[in-house]
Amino acid sequence: MKFKKTLFAGIAAIVGASTLLGSNIASAQKDWPTKPIALVVPFAAGGPTDTIARLIAVPMGQALGQTVVVENTAGAGGTIASTKVARAAPDGYTIYIHHMGMATAQALYDKLPYDPMNSFEYIGQVADVPMVLLGKKDLPANNFKELEAYIKANGSKVTMANAGPGAVSQLCGLLFQSRMGVRLTNIPYKGTGPALTDLLGGQVDLLCDQTTQTIPYIKDGRVKAFGTTTMKRLPAIPNVPTLNEQGLKGFEVKVWHGVYAPKGTPQPILDKINAALKKALSSPDVVKRLQDANIDIAPMAKVSAKGLKDHLESEINVWGPVIRKANIPD
Ligand code: MLT
Repeated sequence: MKFKKTLFAGIAAIVGASTLLGSNIASAQKDWPTKPIALVVPFAAGGPTDTIARLIAVPMGQALGQTVVVENTAGAGGTIASTKVARAAPDGYTIYIHHMGMATAQALYDKLPYDPMNSFEYIGQVADVPMVLLGKKDLPANNFKELEAYIKANGSKVTMANAGPGAVSQLCGLLFQSRMGVRLTNIPYKGTGPALTDLLGGQVDLLCDQTTQTIPYIKDGRVKAFGTTTMKRLPAIPNVPTLNEQGLKGFEVKVWHGVYAPKGTPQPILDKINAALKKALSSPDVVKRLQDANIDIAPMAKVSAKGLKDHLESEINVWGPVIRKANIPD
């Protein structure tokens, strides 16, 4: 009898505690956010991913009523940041922006400490960014034909910057080298922000970079543009031919971006982040700044968990075989 009483009291206490815990969790989710939110960026400050992150952080913060603080965790082509976010507390105070490196890293690394399809919550796609093959101002070549000849004559003396294995600059650079049948000296940076600084300073010869901040430098001749990675020329730089039209048939790399959260972040919080992202992507300042760089904002239907997860899966299937075929090393 005594045992029964104690057991009932114990059960009642557990039920009471879990009800209290449940209501605490529910109210924490309802009140979220009560402090600043970290938006992790997997590359150095001043680069394309960082620029897009800072652009959306402000209107997202306004929509959420809390500051969204950009946190750069650069290195290993974005995989260090992906690992960190996959292991972060799923409380809504850590969110993550990454580009298509989320889809390519699996084919570039033997083993990743996270699973792109299972270690995250998917909030929505953000934007698609074209790339341009750039050269330093003093490079003797003035167009793609001359670049081909220069590379043939100089081989591995030619240097090409990238942001490490898993970065799109590395993917684009190595696909280019694979198509040209050459191996240049590839120099990894923590992002294409610092890589572009060295290209502008003449310390490195080539860089395949996104258009996010390169267009003004192309227009005023501070870097040379040898070709875009798009099938059609870009309206902002119509005089720059595509790589496709210059002989690299089908050379297309468009860099899509997505926003993620650690796996297990509660749905009501994910819904609020998604609404804030949609608001940010409709803000006139953001729209104008992205349009000026020839960046396509994702259609609103794709600014969704399903839109991002489906796209990620299809991109893993597209890039895996391309990377293996091109024999891109780690
Ligand atoms: C960056 O933000 O630095 C770039 O997106 C890196 C890259 O992937 O090339």
